[in-house]
Amino acid sequence: MHSQDDMQEIYPVLSEAEMIVLASPVYYHSFTGQLQCAINRIYALDKPANLKKAALILSSGSDQVYDGMIYEYQNSFLDYLKLEDMGIYTAFDKQNKSEEKLTELKQFGKSLKNIAEKNEEE
Ligand SMILES: Cc1cc2nc3c(=O)[nH]c(=O)nc-3n(C[C@H](O)[C@H](O)[C@H](O)COP(=O)(O)O)c2cc1C
Repeated sequence: MHSQDDMQEIYPVLSEAEMIVLASPVYYHSFTGQLQCAINRIYALDKPANLKKAALILSSGSDQVYDGMIYEYQNSFLDYLKLEDMGIYTAFDKQNKSEEKLTELKQFGKSLKNIAEKNEEE
């Protein structure tokens, strides 16, 4: 029996997706519990059939919190699922309210979208 919760909406999207972007504020040196729960439940799909690429966006108070998360992202998430790393973006402290950072992130988002659309055309 599986849980009838919001994950049932995510599974079909995850099964189709070629790219996943994990985005999270840093809570106690890690992903939020909500995102971690969703990641844990990928277990039910083992390896999402079409997933090939991933990107990571983190927001935090301090800039000293990323090492463990990036290690885990690269060595378990990307490595286990055999995904190509499309980039890691971080914003800490005042960067969270900075126009410059926002522009940078929007540009990053656009570049990911362009890659995704290019893949669709192929
Ligand atoms: C429950 C909770 C735990 C947090 N834990 C950390 C932490 O361990 N390290 C850190 O740098 N920031 C931590 N933060 C700060 C958030 O990452 C930060 O508020 C978030 O990135 C949004 O930035 P803003 O508050 O400037 O909008 C925490 C915030 C909350 C609410």
